[in-house]
Amino acid sequence: MLWGIPQTPTHGYSGSPIDQAPADPPTLGKRTVMSLLIQEIPTTDTPIELLLLADPSEDKIRSYLPRSKCFVASIDGVVVAACLVQQLGAGAHELMSIATQPAHQKSGYGTALLKWVIDFFRKSGASQIEVGTGTFGYQLAFYQRHGFRVTAIDRDFFVNNYPEPIFEDGIQLFDMLRLTLRYSGNVA
Ligand SMILES: CC(C)(COP(=O)(O)OP(=O)(O)OC[C@H]1O[C@@H](n2cnc3c(N)ncnc32)[C@H](O)[C@@H]1OP(=O)(O)O)[C@@H](O)C(=O)NCCC(=O)NCCS
Repeated sequence: MLWGIPQTPTHGYSGSPIDQAPADPPTLGKRTVMSLLIQEIPTTDTPIELLLLADPSEDKIRSYLPRSKCFVASIDGVVVAACLVQQLGAGAHELMSIATQPAHQKSGYGTALLKWVIDFFRKSGASQIEVGTGTFGYQLAFYQRHGFRVTAIDRDFFVNNYPEPIFEDGIQLFDMLRLTLRYSGNVA
């Protein structure tokens, strides 16, 4: 069902969408946000500034860009959330970075985007999506709420892969937890 979603962005993002479909409306208590458009866009239009919130290294983002798909959530043509998903192998993908504009966080847009992307790859026949994240913080609950399970620990990942120490909530990030969402029924 279409629920008042603009079919073409009016300002802000101006590239051409590759794949778009209505998103489930994110809900804020009883309020339903009706104007969110989620779509795949060309990676050349990736909102890198926004994704730096999720991955502080622009070089790293640019390194996985050529193998990734970019998805954005926008309201009236203005991008509020974005993510990059890289193909790892047949049927296996990795969510490399996901971020919502700070002013729009905690409004349900990240959840709507994540759900949409999970659904997108389920329909494509994927067997699993992985994501790497820190060992603490609300992001862990964010992913696990959608079915991601811890599958590995990459010890000292954040120390070995970034030139500067990364802190969150005043705590230094050392290890990366690898989480995997397995699609039951999809065999790659
Ligand atoms: C993670 C992120 C993409 C979630 O997007 P969002 O639009 O805020 O997502 P939602 O509004 O759907 O919220 C999802 C959950 O995260 C919580 N959350 C979001 N931002 C938060 C914050 N800054 N502090 C604490 N909790 C937060 C929400 O309260 C919600 O939890 P709930 O369902 O228990 O209420 C966004 O917070 C973000 O851009 N964070 C910075 C970048 C980042 O850490 N990316 C992930 C890298 S692993």
